[in-house]
Amino acid sequence: MSRAACLLVIISLMSPAAEALDNGLALKPTMGWLHWERFMCNIDCDTDPNNCISERLYMQMADVMVKEGWKEAGYEYVCIDDCWPSHQRDAQGRLQADPKRFPGGIKKLADYIHSKGLKLGIYADVGDKTCAGYPGSLGYYEKDAQTFADWDVDLLKFDGCFMNRALLGEGYTNMSKALNNTGRPVLYSCEWPLYEWPLKQPNYTAIRETCNHWRNFDDVFDSWSSVKSILDWTAAHQDIIVPAAGPGGWNDPDMLVIGNFGLSHDQQESQMALWAIMASPLLMSNDLRDICPRSKELLQNKRIIDISQDSMGKQGYRTAKGNNFEVWERPLSKNCLAVAVLNKLETGGPRGFNIGAAPGWKICGPQCNVTQILPQYKEMGVQTQQSKIIVSVNPSGTALLTVTPISSDFTRLHKLNWQGTFVRRKHTIL
Ligand code: GLA
Repeated sequence: MSRAACLLVIISLMSPAAEALDNGLALKPTMGWLHWERFMCNIDCDTDPNNCISERLYMQMADVMVKEGWKEAGYEYVCIDDCWPSHQRDAQGRLQADPKRFPGGIKKLADYIHSKGLKLGIYADVGDKTCAGYPGSLGYYEKDAQTFADWDVDLLKFDGCFMNRALLGEGYTNMSKALNNTGRPVLYSCEWPLYEWPLKQPNYTAIRETCNHWRNFDDVFDSWSSVKSILDWTAAHQDIIVPAAGPGGWNDPDMLVIGNFGLSHDQQESQMALWAIMASPLLMSNDLRDICPRSKELLQNKRIIDISQDSMGKQGYRTAKGNNFEVWERPLSKNCLAVAVLNKLETGGPRGFNIGAAPGWKICGPQCNVTQILPQYKEMGVQTQQSKIIVSVNPSGTALLTVTPISSDFTRLHKLNWQGTFVRRKHTIL
């Protein structure tokens, strides 16, 4: 394989260009659980009562989240996706939950979720219908926002099906205002850019002012090819989307599918590591009632969650690629750096990568402390700019490390290396 010279993109330490939606929410990437990828539109409670979209599913998930350490790890939102409502609005024109599957109604479900110290998310659509054909909110933004607020809902995922693309901006903005007017803080999760890209390049300044996170690309599936396509899209558009992310508003590459059927353990580690580097919402879509211990340990890994939730709130990005490796880096608070090395070669065995060749390694001057988090936790001790440390990365797996400078000269070097918006350079890695 030839050596490839690749793009090095360096993000500034400055704040994101635009102001975030000012509702005080999502100061760190949202953590929780969302039903869609795993449970989809299963409404057959007669033959599949355990897995159908019903109040029982969310109550059971909330119970497990408290009992099994998920809440303690930071997972807070229990989110309903499509297929929860009745096909008809009520006599007052309000959305109503399917009476058979949600006999207690959403308000009672919210009370239950709150009694566990968790928060409830709900789903609606900016257009005529939801993607699965349930009533849309077009013409009802104020009514629906008020209904959700009256039910004490804490998050709204607002989809973009069945909507004139030219009116997406207006629709998403009006719903944002309607939520704000209720006086209840409701985290606002949008799909505005995803539906707008086919028409034009979205205005991320406006999106950041309107939404707390926003989907840019296709739905995640339970497969490595799906996760890879999301990473590829993100890297290809990082100059446009990365500057928009920061406390209060985040790019959303969709749910974590860790703990399901389609990813090997190495691939699950890759998704977890890269979602933390990308400062993505960590919304799991899996069955927490039945999840293997290794997936659970990965999803609850405190060191990875600390990277995800870093208080500086800078999104990481791909800084180099070559020889079927990709290096992704995220600047962290206290002048630290997270580095992920993804082995994209899906054949053969583990391959070595010299972490000293990562573009961000420059911050290790004259010395730094290195910790490997994935695939195994390992203190790698004090290193220098000249260090050659080979990390072993399995096919479609990721090594994740943190680098902490220990030089008094650090501030100067760090500024040199990271300041300025998107400095493009050629970089070759072995
Ligand atoms: C769209 C969204 C998904 C999910 C489904 C529900 O495809 O992108 O995340 O909400 O609709 O129908």
